[in-house]
Amino acid sequence: MTIAAPDSALYEKWHREWRFPDGVTYLNHGSFGPSPIRVQNARQEWSATLERQPMDFYLRQMELAIDGTVNKLSEFVGVKADGLIAVDNATVGMNIVARSIELNPGDEILTTTHDYGAVLRLWRSACRDAGAELKVQHVDLPVSSSDEIAETIVGGITARTKLLIVSHVTSVTGTIFPVQEICRRAHEKGVPVCVDGPHAIAMIPLAIRDIGCDFYTASCHKWLCGPFGSGFLYVDSRYRRQVKPSIISWGGSVSGRQPHWKDEFNWLGTRDPAPFVAVSTAIDVLRECGLEAFRGYTHALARYARARLVDVTGLEPLIPDGPEWYGSMISLPLAEGGEMDQVQGYRDPLQDRLWENHRIEIPIMHWQGRRFIRVSCHLYNCPQHVDYLAECLAKELAK
Ligand SMILES: Cc1ncc(COP(=O)(O)O)c(C=O)c1O
Repeated sequence: MTIAAPDSALYEKWHREWRFPDGVTYLNHGSFGPSPIRVQNARQEWSATLERQPMDFYLRQMELAIDGTVNKLSEFVGVKADGLIAVDNATVGMNIVARSIELNPGDEILTTTHDYGAVLRLWRSACRDAGAELKVQHVDLPVSSSDEIAETIVGGITARTKLLIVSHVTSVTGTIFPVQEICRRAHEKGVPVCVDGPHAIAMIPLAIRDIGCDFYTASCHKWLCGPFGSGFLYVDSRYRRQVKPSIISWGGSVSGRQPHWKDEFNWLGTRDPAPFVAVSTAIDVLRECGLEAFRGYTHALARYARARLVDVTGLEPLIPDGPEWYGSMISLPLAEGGEMDQVQGYRDPLQDRLWENHRIEIPIMHWQGRRFIRVSCHLYNCPQHVDYLAECLAKELAK
């Protein structure tokens, strides 16, 4: 499969906004996306403002600063600001949802085999505590249409299903799931949906109001390039009265404003909200680059990576080609067997060798008894990085 490398004009213009140690090829924005220097500076300035005069910051500035970023972020993700709260990351958002859904013995939570491991673990624990059941629906790849995905997932709903959890862009395979259609079908059966969306924000066009979900949780440190420790949870109006924070604090406005359902979530004890507030700068940076240009370039680079690595592995991708199936991240299966037995915990020996021998940061992931190599492409990546990865992977697989 040969395709031409994309034009790297956007990379030339933007990559200096990031700084990496010399010699490191970073291809794992999907797990831990570093933020541009401008965003890091904005975060530090907010922290310095807090340290300089904490009384002034907490009583007079903090809530306004959080509101300002919530407003801008809400517009960015296509939903009204009154339903969106700041959280540290998608994990915290999902924990809030898990605390807020009342589960009784015999109830079911429906998830899929594509859901993120920690999300499955959280819901397994919540179900165990309540005597409920976690149902994990198998969605086998390859599929030929996104309708097939929606049908399979919603096919797992029973009269006992309390909530459906679904990834917007799946973690291991990078597949874009048809969440709007899934919500439509689940709602027809009277089941609310929580979309787990940390990979979708910025990577693909996102309008939460059109998806029509009941909850949407995301981290901003991935494709949006917000600081580590920034994320959000959107809660539909029907659930705002029942959502419970994962940390109990004063539950009121520190600046003395009128009570609001968000009060439980803004003051989680004395802490630094700088990462979330600096998300505003991350949105400015991506808008300055141009969202369509960013998506076009990073998708083209991911597509190039997919073709180059298929040549190396000789194995077909699990999803069809096209921007409706994947965005800036691709994932390809590796040959079965081999080093799979040597895997210890989360560490894969091939991942370690790509780092130790070639200084390439890339995840080798394990899922459904198979191994996958996942390549993330952001503005600081270029075709040469992909070529270098293809060359080094070929060497390591030949050993
Ligand atoms: C689909 C999905 N959900 C949730 C998470 C958890 O994100 P975080 O660690 O930022 O909370 C991840 C992280 O990679 C993910 O890929």
